[in-house]
Amino acid sequence: MDQMHVEGDLDLDQTLYSEAEIVTRLKEMATQIESDYEGKDLLLVGVLKGAVMVMADLARSLDRHVEMDWMAVSSYGSGTQSSGVVRILKDLDTDLSGRHVLIVEDIIDTGLTLSWLITNLRSRGPASVEIATLLRKPEAQRMDVDVKYVGFDIPNAFVVGYGLDYDERYRNLRCIGTLSPHVYS
Ligand code: IMP
Repeated sequence: MDQMHVEGDLDLDQTLYSEAEIVTRLKEMATQIESDYEGKDLLLVGVLKGAVMVMADLARSLDRHVEMDWMAVSSYGSGTQSSGVVRILKDLDTDLSGRHVLIVEDIIDTGLTLSWLITNLRSRGPASVEIATLLRKPEAQRMDVDVKYVGFDIPNAFVVGYGLDYDERYRNLRCIGTLSPHVYS
């Protein structure tokens, strides 16, 4: 789905990043990842459902072999606020012992879900666990978890597109934008 399909309905307030800008940034991240993991095996762990598009483009930008696996988690919380109490809906199929793991995320907001995930994955005996996220909001910059690869630091607004949803819609939007307030009300 292109921007024009939602702009026609005036759903998007502002386009933050076009598809071309996103793909260019992911290629830069991929170059860095290739150099950091040279000579090491690499397992990309995507967090469903939001990270599907990031995983697809990041993985294809990597000129090397990688494995991919997926986890689905649900964070208990009130409304749109994450609480950090997490339940695994779908676990990995891969044994992490001795593996170099790179968690692939769409967005880090409070970072609570991610903090839980890192602790959980580290307890499985991997060689390393690092994080790559396309987007990071201001609050996440204050958390004590080190995020090794960040695509873009964005303002504290609710964004959709490129895998990110509002009420399960807009995931298939090619760009990333902020939603018009009329959509919430
Ligand atoms: P955290 O635990 O607060 O970091 O929550 C991260 C999760 O909240 C992400 O993986 C998204 O599923 C969701 N989320 C946070 N901010 C947004 C947003 O602006 N748009 C869509 N989903 C978001």
